[in-house]
Amino acid sequence: METLEGMKRTHHCGAVCENDVKKEVVLCGWVSRRRDHGGLIFVDLRDRSGLVQVVFAEDKLGADSFHKAETLRSEYVIAVRGLVSFRSEETINPHMETGKLEVYCEELRILNTAQTPPFYIQDNLDVDETLRLKYRYLDLRRPEMQKNLILRHRVTKIMRDYFDRNGFLEIETPMLTKSTPEGARDFLVPSRLNPGKFYALPQSPQIFKQILMLAGYEKYFQIVRCFRDEDLRADRQPEFTQIDVEMSFIDQEYILNTMEKMVVELFDKAIGKKIPEPFLRMTWQDAMDRFGSDKPDLRFGMELMDISEHVRGSEFKVFETVLQKGGQVKAIKVDGYADIPRRELDGLVEYVKNYGAKGLAWIQYTENEVKSPFKKFYSDETFQKIAEATGAQKGDLLLVVADKPLVVAQALGELRLEMGRRRNLIDPDKLCFLWVVDFPMFEYDEQDDRWKAMHHPFTMPCAEDIQYLKSDPGRVKAIAYDMVLNGVELGGGSLRIHDSELQEKVFEAVGLTPEQAHAKFGFMLNAFKYGTPPHGGIAFGLDRLIMLMAKRNSIRDVIAFPKTQSASCLMTQAPSEVDNKQLRELSIKSTIKHEKKETAE
Ligand code: AMO
Ligand code: AMP
Repeated sequence: METLEGMKRTHHCGAVCENDVKKEVVLCGWVSRRRDHGGLIFVDLRDRSGLVQVVFAEDKLGADSFHKAETLRSEYVIAVRGLVSFRSEETINPHMETGKLEVYCEELRILNTAQTPPFYIQDNLDVDETLRLKYRYLDLRRPEMQKNLILRHRVTKIMRDYFDRNGFLEIETPMLTKSTPEGARDFLVPSRLNPGKFYALPQSPQIFKQILMLAGYEKYFQIVRCFRDEDLRADRQPEFTQIDVEMSFIDQEYILNTMEKMVVELFDKAIGKKIPEPFLRMTWQDAMDRFGSDKPDLRFGMELMDISEHVRGSEFKVFETVLQKGGQVKAIKVDGYADIPRRELDGLVEYVKNYGAKGLAWIQYTENEVKSPFKKFYSDETFQKIAEATGAQKGDLLLVVADKPLVVAQALGELRLEMGRRRNLIDPDKLCFLWVVDFPMFEYDEQDDRWKAMHHPFTMPCAEDIQYLKSDPGRVKAIAYDMVLNGVELGGGSLRIHDSELQEKVFEAVGLTPEQAHAKFGFMLNAFKYGTPPHGGIAFGLDRLIMLMAKRNSIRDVIAFPKTQSASCLMTQAPSEVDNKQLRELSIKSTIKHEKKETAE
């Protein structure tokens, strides 16, 4: 193997430009593609800046060096000294940034060889993601992945500058800590020095950032790793990164403004997108009523419409039972799709059942007739009225769900998104930001049969609703807000309670006794007795933000070393078993073997 000695890189491959023509350059990188034309070898040389074509010509290089060039294979690491020149007209590659140029090699050094990689190092790769994750170092060499991580770096740099300019301090908070209130399952870390005791990895720095406010730091931010042991999806990882923010002596308006400006600056500076301000604001209730979601995708319409009043009082049991119990009948309109195939309708019935609906009905306003499973229960006039109310015209399709409001919202909301995708109504270039505001303070957990904090229990209830904390928790609104982009919750936050009496009332409302509250958050409640300023904040999901900026469908594509659906790392094989000795040191014993025995017996 040769060394770089006496050879100093002058340019990055992707940065070679027309001004360099006739100049000598030294490039380093990986052999991306190699074509042998007998006497002439072409290599696309790659580093993180891009690619450039290097030409090895036998007549220029001499036999020895040319012979060396013949041994080059994919992913060999080389250094090249050469002369930049224009390619001849017919060999220009318009798909390559440096496609008009090539570098005629005068000296080649092979710095390292490489085994044949299990997949091509190129964009738009069509291989199983598990292979990419196992060989993540090769996957990360691909230009599109490098672009994503470079974008991620740019974005956090712009953020840090923005927050710094606006008087925020970046302060680190512990990773080995106590359970925090975000409500997912904790990752636990056993303490060797305190046998039988555990740290929890933070689900967010929530408690610490609030303590920092009472400690007088006024404006805090942190780009910070958070850990949540929850079921994973395309936009969820067990460890992910938040842009965490908290401020004192402010109101909701100030927080929304600060964050909106940050996002606008980010999109402008990082990807050159001008986002119109101010962002749309929508109440949680409106979002649920119109889009069936607290994170509506506003890139297309197809809003949910209530047709309860038109179908009430009939013999059609499905609707009547629901309506009598205080439920609703709502519809979405799919333009020009009255001739939807029956098979697709059957599929849609199954689709909404996944989201809790008991069934799906429809009205097809075809050219010559109205087709509907409940046609015989209503007059032509009713179908005419429904058409007027929903704006349905000949050729349109209505999809109808009847149930409790939350079930209708979820089922029709998801169906709306699915039909938006199927009918190609979603413009991938559009960026639709909004703030969802006026969230309910609590949501009812049917499984546990109790009220839970929708955001977290430190959230400030609206002053006029405090009187209902005990008597009617469902009607209490919170001073909480989410930023949503294209149907993804980018971030959420709230004003916080800074009065310990009110805090205790809220704990009580979510079923925490004073003793339980003290065991969990006692240090915080105590701290709050020493002069807490009014404060509030927000946290953004950095991975989701970058995913949307980079137009990817999964946050795994913007995280260097992500985990799989089952929370494992295919490259390092984590999580893995550990020695019994390690467990003993931690005073821990695995129950796995015992369980196996029990089932075997
Ligand atoms: P919340 O729980 O809403 O609020 O989280 C804030 C944002 O973090 C992102 N996020 C995730 N991203 C990837 N994988 C996950 N598993 C994951 N979970 C959450 C989302 C979300 O909007 N402490 C509060 C904030 C506050 O009140 O200031 C909090 O953590 O984009
Ligand atoms: P059934 O009486 O259950 O056979 O239902 C009659 C029609 O109403 C069928 O087309 C069902 O798909 C539809 N349907 C059933 N349940 C619902 C529901 N919850 N919402 C809307 N339509 C429904």
